[in-house]
Amino acid sequence: MPVISGSNCRDVAVALSNEMGMHYIPAETRRFPDGEGYLKTPSKEFSSIRSEPVVVVSSTFPDNGIIQTMMLLAGVADIQKGDLANLKEEGDQVMEDLGRKIILAIPYYGYARQDKRFSAGEVVAAEVIATHLSGACEGIVILDIHEPKVLEAIEHPISCVTAVPELAEWLGGQVRPDFILSPDKGAVDRAKNVAELIGVPHSYLEKTRIDAHHIEHTPKDLDVSGKIVAIVDDMISTGGTICKASDALRRQGAVEVHAACTHGLFTAGALTRLAKHVDGVHSTDSLSNPRAVVSGAPALARGVSDLIDRL
Ligand code: R5P
Repeated sequence: MPVISGSNCRDVAVALSNEMGMHYIPAETRRFPDGEGYLKTPSKEFSSIRSEPVVVVSSTFPDNGIIQTMMLLAGVADIQKGDLANLKEEGDQVMEDLGRKIILAIPYYGYARQDKRFSAGEVVAAEVIATHLSGACEGIVILDIHEPKVLEAIEHPISCVTAVPELAEWLGGQVRPDFILSPDKGAVDRAKNVAELIGVPHSYLEKTRIDAHHIEHTPKDLDVSGKIVAIVDDMISTGGTICKASDALRRQGAVEVHAACTHGLFTAGALTRLAKHVDGVHSTDSLSNPRAVVSGAPALARGVSDLIDRL
């Protein structure tokens, strides 16, 4: 079963193909001078793509990742359908239609946080993207999506997978935390699962978001005096949430605070800001970043296997 990716998440795609013992196909990508993307599947891979279901690995982030995902899905589908007509008249123009068989594996589902219409006129972008992509493949695997409920209306098979087991193993071995904290109530299940795997207690903070850059935590008594604490979240963007949570933990006597997440976005200055508030930052490689110490490939592989069984 081949695994194909564009430039968007090549390392994760290679890791997934190694994890599953699959053949990796790098699609050719480049950019036109005006910034538009170009994508081509190498013709030497056509027979492999036509002989088995294909796993397309692509993130919907940043925005051009969405375009690249759509182009990959369409390119693979054309090859499987035998629609190879081209202006240079290279190779076969038309081949037998073998039917589309594509699983899309998404390491980082961008737009996941736009999962509710808070105000009339807003777009639930997370659902819009899933609707479009799910119609272009047979099933989707998504790694640690912010809120899986946003996918409830999608009719096609979706497997939501988590890197919690791998993050817990890393934290248990490297950080040895005494306590796991979720920086908000929404992420408490993730923190609970990490805590249970390591065998330590957990809790959460009540968070109110003021705007994209500012949040507030309601004070809460936590049994963290003299303890090493790991804050676990699905993603870290500006780092504001983690910095505030860490400050709350230190005020209550935590001696060491670490931050762990699946998706290390680390927008401008986040790592510098975090370095002033926490003792360590640990992330998966769903997005390429300097704190990627845990592989997202095993979780994606679990999702691909699940979908293969269901399709
Ligand atoms: C929001 O609910 C998410 O789970 C994260 O807590 C949030 O996106 C982190 O953003 P930032 O690092 O900018 O505070």
